[in-house]
Amino acid sequence: MTSSQLIDIQGLATDFIDHILYRAVELAKGSEPMTTNHTVANLFFEPSTRTRVSFEIAATRLGLSIINLDGLRSSMTKGESLLDTLATLRAMGVEMAVLRHGQTGICHEISHAMPIGMGLVNAGDGCGHHPTQALLDVATMIEQGISLSDSKVVIVGDLRHSRVARSNVALLKRLNVGEVALAGPPAFMPKDLFGHTDLVVYDQLEAALEEANIVMMLRIQKERLEPETLVDWADYHEQWGLSQSKLALARPDCRVMHPGPINRGVELTAEVADGAQSLILDQVRMSVFTRMAIFEALLA
Ligand code: CP
Repeated sequence: MTSSQLIDIQGLATDFIDHILYRAVELAKGSEPMTTNHTVANLFFEPSTRTRVSFEIAATRLGLSIINLDGLRSSMTKGESLLDTLATLRAMGVEMAVLRHGQTGICHEISHAMPIGMGLVNAGDGCGHHPTQALLDVATMIEQGISLSDSKVVIVGDLRHSRVARSNVALLKRLNVGEVALAGPPAFMPKDLFGHTDLVVYDQLEAALEEANIVMMLRIQKERLEPETLVDWADYHEQWGLSQSKLALARPDCRVMHPGPINRGVELTAEVADGAQSLILDQVRMSVFTRMAIFEALLA
């Protein structure tokens, strides 16, 4: 990973992470953005609302020119490779690509072959990594005044297919969060526990919630389930869905997070999603400031 690439949390220096988190919170407080006149491109080959739009708004607030390439309507449908597409954009002056793609590991694959002068930001690759989501999640916690070292963070749901969970575990462990726990049915537990041997794993939501002050709920990623996986949605909601009565088992100050998109009535109730303990829209708000901080740092 070069200094103009952001592919995964593992490849980031702790100083860089600290700077992004600090700067995102400063920008949220009204700090003046560092405007520049670079050109960046959103290349999205999977659906997105939050990530694509927040990168676009972040770029606009920094005075960047941003073009949105709908990957599924690009000339890649005529056989052009991703690297040839990037070289084509580079020849037109694009200096940074923000890539969302369904193929796990695609950003690592192309990171060594990027056109000269073009940076790369991973905006989510298959079941791989979503580092900018993890950064904005932690920026949200810090902005809310939550002490990371005293926190018990529980990540709940379809962990196996979750790039958000993988990136969050890497970031929370790097920042020495008090306790990071995973909870979900065995079929949704990652086989390698994201490479961490010291995570607490729960097979019941109620037990996981005890002493938790952050609960991150995850969507079941229907689009990534193995064909043989059958989910009884009502049963899933009964066992793993977060309701107000289950949330009461956690610390009274427990906050609820979700990267979105949310499925009301599946991984959480509408009452919890819209309730006073929910940070879901704060995460969306902080996504713009965090992505501004990322552009500032990578294009500096
Ligand atoms: N959290 C997230 O990546 O949402 P989108 O798929 O809407 O970008």
